[in-house]
Amino acid sequence: MKLALVTGASSGLGREFVRQLDGEKDLDEIWAVARRKERLEELAGQCVHTVRPLALDLTQGENIRFLKDLLSRERPQVSVLVCAAGLGRIGKTWEISDRDNDAMIDVNCKAAVDVTSACLPYLGRGSRILEICSTAGFQPMPELNVYAATKAFLQSYTKTLHYELLGKGIHVTAVCPYWIKDTEFIPRAKEWEPRGFRHFPLASRARTVVRWALLDSRLNLWVSTPGPVCMVHRVAAKFIPHFVMVPLMDLLRRL
Ligand SMILES: NC(=O)c1ccc[n+]([C@@H]2O[C@H](COP(=O)([O-])OP(=O)(O)OC[C@H]3O[C@@H](n4cnc5c(N)ncnc54)[C@H](OP(=O)(O)O)[C@@H]3O)[C@@H](O)[C@H]2O)c1
Repeated sequence: MKLALVTGASSGLGREFVRQLDGEKDLDEIWAVARRKERLEELAGQCVHTVRPLALDLTQGENIRFLKDLLSRERPQVSVLVCAAGLGRIGKTWEISDRDNDAMIDVNCKAAVDVTSACLPYLGRGSRILEICSTAGFQPMPELNVYAATKAFLQSYTKTLHYELLGKGIHVTAVCPYWIKDTEFIPRAKEWEPRGFRHFPLASRARTVVRWALLDSRLNLWVSTPGPVCMVHRVAAKFIPHFVMVPLMDLLRRL
């Protein structure tokens, strides 16, 4: 069985990945993972492929074990893995609770690594992994400190995995979008911190980001910057030192 496994599938990018992968003919099944079961079932009802809703909190060790057991029972060929589960919190470092910091680290870093490790034995030549990172990972970010650090971690992890799996013919891509306006991420990230980031100029749309990311993963790019803004950001962060880039990011968010 040829499988696509998508985390974060109950909304935003993850849901859009399921919809676009539903158009790929060489897949047999899609596993859609997130906590909100009813959202996953609704999505399954809209798809042509068999979509298996897996209502799992990926920060819980027993759920990772469940996923591993399921994979070892069914022994699919994982053709596409998308790790899109993630969350952010906007605010000064001292304003964000330990609980929220832990949640960002657990979902954005640990869950992505755990799910990827669980799938690795079932990937083969031509399989694709897309880890959803962020332009926030290109440099430290004021008012997004822990979030940006989690995305820098995931980007580094993904680049090394890309290199290690080159010889096996497995594509691994760190997808680094800029702000996206039509997912739940922004309202959730700023729900209790209305003063910091007010505007999200040039924010992209989930559909465009996913289309671009899937193309870049086919091309086996190790970093996908899905849109001109992300590309400019990436180039700027490469050449401008962090001691200039950090105050610049702080200034830009006030515009
Ligand atoms: N939107 C942006 O501006 C933006 C920009 C750059 C990068 N990104 C990254 O893109 C990815 C997708 O974000 P999005 O914009 O699509 O946001 P979103 O609409 O809020 O989607 C986040 C997804 O993660 C799932 N999730 C959160 N905690 C989970 C947990 N403990 N276990 C399992 N699933 C969990 C959520 O499902 P449940 O709540 O149902 O569990 C939801 O499906 C994230 O990694 C984010 O960091 C977003």
